[in-house]
Amino acid sequence: MKILVTGGAGFIGSAVCRYLVQELGHCVVNLDKLTYAANLSSLAEIENNPLYAFEKVDICDRLELDRVFSSHQPDAVMHLAAESHVDRSITGAGEFIQTNVVGTMTMLEASRAYLAACTQNVAKAFRFLHVSTDEVYGELGETGLFSETTPYDPSSPYSASKAASDHLAKAWARTYDMPIVVSNCSNNYGPFHFPEKLIPLMILNALHGKDLPVYGDGSNVRDWLYVDDHARALFMILTKGRIGETYNVGGQNERTNLQVVERICSLVDELAAPLASGSRKDLIRFVQDRPGHDARYAIDAEKLRSELGWVAQENFESGLRKTVQWYLDHEAWWRPIIEHNYQGERLGLTKT
Ligand code: NAD
Ligand code: DAU
Repeated sequence: MKILVTGGAGFIGSAVCRYLVQELGHCVVNLDKLTYAANLSSLAEIENNPLYAFEKVDICDRLELDRVFSSHQPDAVMHLAAESHVDRSITGAGEFIQTNVVGTMTMLEASRAYLAACTQNVAKAFRFLHVSTDEVYGELGETGLFSETTPYDPSSPYSASKAASDHLAKAWARTYDMPIVVSNCSNNYGPFHFPEKLIPLMILNALHGKDLPVYGDGSNVRDWLYVDDHARALFMILTKGRIGETYNVGGQNERTNLQVVERICSLVDELAAPLASGSRKDLIRFVQDRPGHDARYAIDAEKLRSELGWVAQENFESGLRKTVQWYLDHEAWWRPIIEHNYQGERLGLTKT
């Protein structure tokens, strides 16, 4: 297959590109605008592979999208390009609406034009996977799980923009009969994760003996999935998922944020040089909560398991250990980011 991956220079998109090229031997066209969150060094393992091509393009640029579709003639699209950080969306929603909503609409329209112009055989096999998040469902109380029929109830500008993009994808499937599938996944973690997100930020701060800012009282729950398990799920949904359907993706790894940060402290204490001041747990600081902070996310992935046979291969304990070790071993990847791009400052506070 030749697959057009949008956002392939980001955290999940780069894992998808590496998986498609290295493990499955498919052709990949990575289309990415290269925002602050992108990192082409995450693709170093495949950048010279003849199966891989890169196009620096904004998904809002229809003319450029038309050029990419007609010159590469993809068999499928995996659409991941997005502004992805909740805290940044609280500080400034504009880019989120532009990329996540307008950009998704532009991708759908460019795909529709491509489908109208290509041969019947290509059109029949074509699939468009819209990659989304469990945050569209809002928050859970102490019990219950998000299923594919949970009503949408987004809390942040980020999740509202993703909810809008999901509705666009489903509307384009119904109105224009396009072969679209949608996935909604829980929190990912793993190598090549930009250190504005909880897990990589805490690993690097713990390593450097810096404060570990836990929002509120640390009781908010997230359901963690190792990024390579997500990449495998996405390919299964693309190739075996039923057109017009939604599939939830999650690994049944619910943890409070405080549990996650404490475990990171123990792992960094064990795997890195000790801190003169003692245990890294002493660096934990409870700080002002995120506005609109969702209490709990948890995914019911039964549909993905029973229909497509997907199961997560990594459990949270082994995945987190691998992730901490990866950051310890890959300073050359994160050093330029913390020196030039993001120094760990607090994002997403409204005026108090
Ligand atoms: P990321 O922020 O690491 O990467 C996003 C990528 O999209 C970057 O390479 C960026 O340059 C690119 N991009 C942004 N705007 C663009 C534009 N206008 N045109 C072209 N490229 C553009 O994001 P991620 O964490 O890898 O998330 C990827 C997708 O998966 C997103 O759609 C996100 O909503 C979804 N998702 C993420 C998670 C998670 O835990 N990270 C969970 C579920 C779903
Ligand atoms: O659920 C899927 C979503 O997971 C994705 O759609 C998003 O793209 C992705 O960023 C992630 O969103 P979260 O807001 O859950 O992830 P983040 O890493 O920003 O925060 C995880 C939790 O940790 C959340 O409850 C806020 C908290 N947190 C975060 C940071 C950065 C802290 O307590 N301290 C921090 O410094």
